Amino acid sequence: MAFFPPVPTPKSPEQLRSRRWFAPDDLRSFGHRSRIAQMGFGGEELRDRPVIAVLNTWSDLAQCHTHFRERAEEVKRGVWQAGGFPVEIPVLSLSEMFVKPTAMIHRNLLALEVEEVLRSQPIDGVVLMGGCDKTVPGLLLGAISVDLPAIFLPAGPMLAGRFRTTRLGSGSDVWKYWAERQAGCLSECAWRQIEEGIARSPGTCMTMGTASTMAAIVETLGLALPGSATIPAVHSAHARLAAECGRRAVGLVWEDRRPATILSPQAFENGVIADMALCGSTNAIVHLIALARRAGIPLSIDDFDRISREVPVIANLRPAGEYLMEDFHDAGGVPALLSRLTAMLHLDAPTVTGRTLGENIAGAEVLSDEVIRPLDRPLDSAGGTFVLRGNLAPDGCVIKPTAADPRLLVHSGPALVFDSYADLKARIDAPDLDVTPDTILVLRNAGPIGAPGMPEWGMLPIPKKLLEAGVRDMVRISDARMSGTSYGTCVLHVAPESAVGGVLALVQTGDRIELDVPGRRVHLAVDDAELARRRAGWTPPPPRHARGYGKLFHDQVTQAPDGCDFRFLEAGPPPPEPDIF
Ligand code: FES
Repeated sequence: MAFFPPVPTPKSPEQLRSRRWFAPDDLRSFGHRSRIAQMGFGGEELRDRPVIAVLNTWSDLAQCHTHFRERAEEVKRGVWQAGGFPVEIPVLSLSEMFVKPTAMIHRNLLALEVEEVLRSQPIDGVVLMGGCDKTVPGLLLGAISVDLPAIFLPAGPMLAGRFRTTRLGSGSDVWKYWAERQAGCLSECAWRQIEEGIARSPGTCMTMGTASTMAAIVETLGLALPGSATIPAVHSAHARLAAECGRRAVGLVWEDRRPATILSPQAFENGVIADMALCGSTNAIVHLIALARRAGIPLSIDDFDRISREVPVIANLRPAGEYLMEDFHDAGGVPALLSRLTAMLHLDAPTVTGRTLGENIAGAEVLSDEVIRPLDRPLDSAGGTFVLRGNLAPDGCVIKPTAADPRLLVHSGPALVFDSYADLKARIDAPDLDVTPDTILVLRNAGPIGAPGMPEWGMLPIPKKLLEAGVRDMVRISDARMSGTSYGTCVLHVAPESAVGGVLALVQTGDRIELDVPGRRVHLAVDDAELARRRAGWTPPPPRHARGYGKLFHDQVTQAPDGCDFRFLEAGPPPPEPDIF
């Protein structure tokens, strides 16, 4: 069935949502106005102005958002300039580094917080300030559900890292140099220099990791300003972007341009096309499906595989390619990338600018054919993420073939099974580990429920004895996710996960596993009768949490192909407006 977003209809001051709190001549509104006066604002400063929430994911433990205190002031400046009334509200800050076992567990908590913060207070529109991985989908999931006019301000990437004369990329170079250190090829002194040089400024990981992928996708979806995804966090243009987001948020309110008037199946298809051309993080699959489902729009992992067959990888960015985010920005950023894909994109998709995607990118120019390759000279002729199926993953799993050793894309080998990440940590570097370069490492109980939260454990470390022998890649299979900055022949998001009885739970060390990435197949070579026998003896692991948010997560989270949202938060009508008595 065709799906068209509703056409926005302009609003008058009398129709502002916040007027329900402030306009009536009654006792309750008297209380609201007097408390605004308590904060030092006169009636004139509020009258007929849309109230714009500036949702800020800053905290002293959000290392990628350390500039967000200043940026919030710049957003507010823009809101005042455009005739709005800004209110900064702190929301859950989710550092991809410091929240354990994974910030993914709290993505839905942030989403729920955003929905309730916006729903329950006198707010007409919102600027969403995020960037570090899970903050992006967390903010957007909530904003889509509450469906107030919203614009996303990405944190922007940090400066390129530096080790002596070498440029360092977030994540990717950590894994690379750690492997060298493990193999005994890197000194203590050099390792310390890398530690001090890899993260040199505020901003998000500057490789095409999850943060950069999601920022680019959100821009393509039409929920952020054109060109915003790649502006480095410390660039003066980023401060100007913040003010522009504030100004535009006011315009969105008057135009009643809400997520529901922007998002459509075509917008999501555009987002997936951009993801594939960028060879984006595999995490984007989970987040985009969750976002689409919140918007009531069908999107499945098979759509990613279908589009991956049609869209070449043209962004030459680490970890799949060579360059870093500031190079991508200097080459023209997302508008330039999209200008190479116009024949595939739905250019009539609406955006927060009030113009279509096609109008936004008209005139965009690619300034480096090395960073953004021409279509006839791609990094890879097929897109960034493939979806595999087989008896080991009947509901699907994913792999990023561009980040894998081509020799391993068709491979068969014996499984070496780890029951948990603790098990893996305890055994992986043992000198007597029975492992060869042909072995397939298997990690289970690392999925949405099992871990919980499917942490980014999917790039299982290469055993030390193989590193010392020069091995740098081998096939790894898990129900975990993988950092967007990671690489290797890693089969991820196996569904159903082992903790709910997926076949991954039944694999035994020594079983043969067959991987055929071009054929989109992953197969456990064990016959059905034997699998049935093993299943009869299998019991699910006990939940990690008996109470609290962990229990809610365990009871409500969906599997990876469904986006790992909470069942009770998926699509439905917008939440009811609060009673004001
Ligand atoms: Fe924040 Fe990578 S740690 S984006």
